[in-house]
Amino acid sequence: MDKPVLELDGISAGYGTGLVLQDLSLTVDRGEVLGIMGRNGVGKSTLLKTLMGLLKVRSGRLTFSGHDLTNAPSYRVAAAGVGYVPQGREVFPDFTIRQNLIMGNLKARNDDIDAAMDLFPVLRERARATGGSLSGGQQQQLAIARALIGRPALLVLDEPSEGIQPSIVREIGTTLKQVSAEKGMTIMLVEQNMDMITQCCDRVVFLEGGRIATSVPAAQLLESPALLNKYMAF
Ligand SMILES: Nc1ncnc2c1ncn2[C@@H]1O[C@H](COP(=O)(O)OP(=O)(O)O)[C@@H](O)[C@H]1O
Ligand SMILES: [Mg+2]
Repeated sequence: MDKPVLELDGISAGYGTGLVLQDLSLTVDRGEVLGIMGRNGVGKSTLLKTLMGLLKVRSGRLTFSGHDLTNAPSYRVAAAGVGYVPQGREVFPDFTIRQNLIMGNLKARNDDIDAAMDLFPVLRERARATGGSLSGGQQQQLAIARALIGRPALLVLDEPSEGIQPSIVREIGTTLKQVSAEKGMTIMLVEQNMDMITQCCDRVVFLEGGRIATSVPAAQLLESPALLNKYMAF
């Protein structure tokens, strides 16, 4: 079997003097779509920010595609092939859709922009509109397309369904499944939305106490209400 594409080995990280992640270990296989769940404040965003080089790794080791990225700056993580869709989307409100997409890769060519717009037709229909004029769901689609412009081998998304109408959530889920199948892309999806998790994911891990508490095949999740009761605030 192939080596995992991503290995987090004994990672600790947090804010100020406090640790949120404590000795966290996780491996992700190439092509896998991994869901990451857990209660609010448990450290899901902290995990993604640490992976992206936005927070310091206090101890442990982070390896992606054979590169040691422990405490690598964000631009090196991105250059190594990791695309990031932050919680809250962070589109540039005064930039047009096209300009926002270019921010995903300043060397993007027109056909890269076209390919990104093919993922979500609304982006082409409204190419000259500003990011700030889009609905929350359209902004989320824009943030995902922007992350894909760099052709990442690993796409990480932080609660893409948050505050978005169900029809767009489903559309996003379908697109994620499609890019992972067509391009063999690995995905890490932080989510609370069960429909999206079961639509997209192969496996789900639950975060608790600064670590990965358990890992289950996504197909088993719906038959495991005890797991959801234990690790989620449902
Ligand atoms: N910028 C920050 N400064 C200090 N503490 C933070 C900051 N961001 C998050 N935290 C704290 O870190 C913990 C984990 O937060 P977070 O990773 O955002 O949780 P989740 O994404 O699982 O809801 C929480 O206790 C939160 O209050
Ligand atoms: Mg979060």
